[in-house]
Order: sequence, then C-alpha cells, then structure tokens
Amino acid sequence: MDVEAKKRQAAEGALEHVEIGSVVGVGTGSTTNHFIDALARIRHRIDATVASSEATAALLRERGIRVSDLNSVDEVSLYVDGADECTHHRQLVKGRGGALAREKIIAAAARRFVCIVDDSKLVDVLGTTAPVPVEVIPMARGYAARQLVSLGGNPFWREGAVTDNGNAILDVHGLDLVAPAETESILNQITGTVANGLFARRRADVVLVGTGSEVRILS
Ligand code: A5P
Repeated sequence: MDVEAKKRQAAEGALEHVEIGSVVGVGTGSTTNHFIDALARIRHRIDATVASSEATAALLRERGIRVSDLNSVDEVSLYVDGADECTHHRQLVKGRGGALAREKIIAAAARRFVCIVDDSKLVDVLGTTAPVPVEVIPMARGYAARQLVSLGGNPFWREGAVTDNGNAILDVHGLDLVAPAETESILNQITGTVANGLFARRRADVVLVGTGSEVRILS
C-alpha cells in the first residue's frame, strides 16, 4: 500500500472518535486533509470545527463544513492532526507545515487529541528524521537562533516562510531529545519564541497508525 493510502487509512479511523454534536479541532497537512474528506461525510452530525491554519479553514469551508473561532466555542471535544514524527509514547514532532503554534493551542484546548500518521512517522527517539521547528517573532530570529545554538542545536531559518501569525520559523537539528518534555520546556523559555514543534508535554492521547494491513492503535 502506498503512503497516501496509509494516511487515508489512519484518517478514516479517526472518524470513530468524533462525537455527535461536538466541536472538532482540525490540524494541518496531507494526512489531516484525508480526515477533512472523511469528516465532510458526517458534517451534519457535528456542531462545528476549529482550524489550526488558514489552509485548513479554507478546505473545511470548501467541503461545506462549518468553521468557528476557538474563542467562540465552549469546548473542543476532539483534536485530530498528523505529525512529522511519533514515538511509541505518543510524543510528537510537528510543524513541517508551519502551523505549529495554532496546532499547539488547539491541542492544549482539546479534551482528546487523536494523532493520525502512516507508519513511516514512527521513531524511537524524536529528532531522528525531522528537525524541531520553532516559531519566532521576526525581530527575535537572530537572538533565538543564538540561544538554540547554546543549547546544542543547529538552527536553520526557513527562509521565505511566514506563518499564519506573521512569524518566522527556525528548523532546529541536533537537539538532545532523549527527554523531549524537558527540552520542550527549555525551548519555551527562549524570549521571542511563540511555540516549538515538540508535542511531548501535551502529547497525543491516541495515535492511529496506518500500516497498510491495519490501523495500529497506540494508547
Ligand atoms: C503542520 O504544521 C504539521 O504539524 C503537520 O501536522 C505535519 O507536518 C504532518 O504533515 P503530513 O500529514 O503532511 O505529513
């Protein structure tokens, strides 16, 4: 089975976690786009969605799915999103699509976070295949990069990329991620950063892994 089919398999599995009449948080990326296609089939059975990016909001509306502002909803029952890397402990690296800050906000606000990935995203240690993106306020880019170097990282400016929040992204290689929750907290302390792509403190509650033969569940 090809990678897209595995992503679709995981995305279809997430549909079972959607509660009737609820608000669903929707992530960003190619795997989540398959979830949006699946969600469109039951759009009349949910109250609304909240979107983690302008791209996702546009796609949801295109599929006839109601999009609300996070500030105007009482509760997000479920957040569904992909990941760049995922461990067996359900800790993630996210943000290759640049939507990490809004993704982190919705994941924090949601009662339950279901992550959908194909099996190529599974790693033993975070940082093996993907850098950790850090969203920074533009004037803090140089300062934050120097701080990241002092922490042992090797940051690269994602030149030309501007987030939905108007900020820049540094992709950081080489960080010690053996204890990702601790590293996440340390990165959070760098003044001028908005968010980093480590989802270790608020990790996924459930991960659905499309393997081709089955949807493997990590919980
Ligand atoms: C978006 O900013 C990311 O966090 C995505 O969730 C992540 O990059 C996974 O994307 P794909 O589903 O396209 O691999």
